[in-house]
Amino acid sequence: MKAWSGRFEKTTDALTDSLNASISFDCRLYEEDITGSIAHAGMLGAQGIIEAEEADKIIACLKDILADIKAGKIEFKQENEDIHMNVEAILIERIGDTGKRLHTARSRNDQVALDIRLYLKKEIKEIRGLTLNLLSIILKKAESGKDVIMPSYTHLQRAQPTSFAHYMMAYANMLRRDVTRLEDCLERMDEMPLGSGALTSTTYPIDRWRVARELGFSRITENSIDGVSDRDFSIELLSDLSLLMMHLSRFSEEIILWCSWEFKFVELDDAFATGSSIMPQKKNPDIPELVRGKTGRVYGSLISLLTVMKALPLAYNKDMQEDKEPVFDAVDTVKACLPVFSAMLDTMTILPENMRAAAAKGFINATDCADYLVKKGLPFRDAYKLVGMLVNHCIKTGKTLETLSMDEYKEMSDVFDTDVYDYINLDNCVQARIAEGGPSKPSVEKQIASVKEFLNKRGETA
Ligand code: ARG
Repeated sequence: MKAWSGRFEKTTDALTDSLNASISFDCRLYEEDITGSIAHAGMLGAQGIIEAEEADKIIACLKDILADIKAGKIEFKQENEDIHMNVEAILIERIGDTGKRLHTARSRNDQVALDIRLYLKKEIKEIRGLTLNLLSIILKKAESGKDVIMPSYTHLQRAQPTSFAHYMMAYANMLRRDVTRLEDCLERMDEMPLGSGALTSTTYPIDRWRVARELGFSRITENSIDGVSDRDFSIELLSDLSLLMMHLSRFSEEIILWCSWEFKFVELDDAFATGSSIMPQKKNPDIPELVRGKTGRVYGSLISLLTVMKALPLAYNKDMQEDKEPVFDAVDTVKACLPVFSAMLDTMTILPENMRAAAAKGFINATDCADYLVKKGLPFRDAYKLVGMLVNHCIKTGKTLETLSMDEYKEMSDVFDTDVYDYINLDNCVQARIAEGGPSKPSVEKQIASVKEFLNKRGETA
């Protein structure tokens, strides 16, 4: 029988039950639900709202139920709708009338708000740990590639020479922002909503701070209507996860390109690649492709939740039950992607000769050649035009700036001298970029040290 059957003259239609029930997915909140109920019961007992012995009895039984669920001994019922009513029904089944006192001074509205926060606080910490681990692997890769010259691109056209370390540190900076975003999100989420009741709190002399302390929250929500209406924290997390996945998808895309024979900058470990059912020669980068694909799924969850919450009047509306599946799916997806992506990156071999060979084509030292003329006194715009003409000449004659003769240089401008060859040497081009943030060894080492310090502060070693 339904907890709320008193007001009704008929039982619910089976179709109503099936649409209404959320137990098939919110069952994953069982531990948070029971932990929250234990804290609530303890507070009710301590405040004299229920007898202390009754509180003890409820708590002991809730602990048994938790153990039984973990042991797979309990089957939830759809007719009991959600995890909250299922646990309460089992409690009442086991200890009778005493169990009926648990829901005093509480509503499922503040209960579910509490459960999701407890759940997400735990998940954010885990995702943050996985992200830190990936960051430490990126750092390791960067350290191994300080002397590896590669082309960098704009418009996917070879642009300027850089080092693999410099390139990796771009991703390190992206991932570091992801970590701090998760930390911010956790900080804002760290508010305990129980005591909001259905929406206007309660007349019982509850102690919300006691519950908050017991459940490890640093604050309580300040307004009871907001306490049950707010899903910002889930949306914020999904935004953060969307950004994180966007970063992984960009990284994935590059790895996919780098694996192709057209680039061949890297080789994935066989353990993190797949074959084809028909083409015997194939070694496919399925992992980064899936990470790229799953990014869409996480964005989908964010948009779902934003759309569910759009224009909902305060306070709780049943629409809000639709918050869980997108949140769970996004959390699961990110937790599935991060470890495999990290392991794939960790075992990926870089092919410095191929990177260097690509850097030697495409005139990526043309900016440096123009800078050479500027150093000799030409205005940049004139130098830029001159080198453009030189490149045009190279394309027509099948040469590179390195293989042009001194005569050909002189023909374009007598400012050119033999020291130009040194100036446009790729290693020199990279090392000359001494500006902060650039690819010269000291600049990159500074970037590496900064991220290392970030990791060290968080107890993570690269
Ligand atoms: N299963 C519900 C949810 O997930 C719990 C809250 C139900 N509250 C209510 N007033 N019907 O949102």
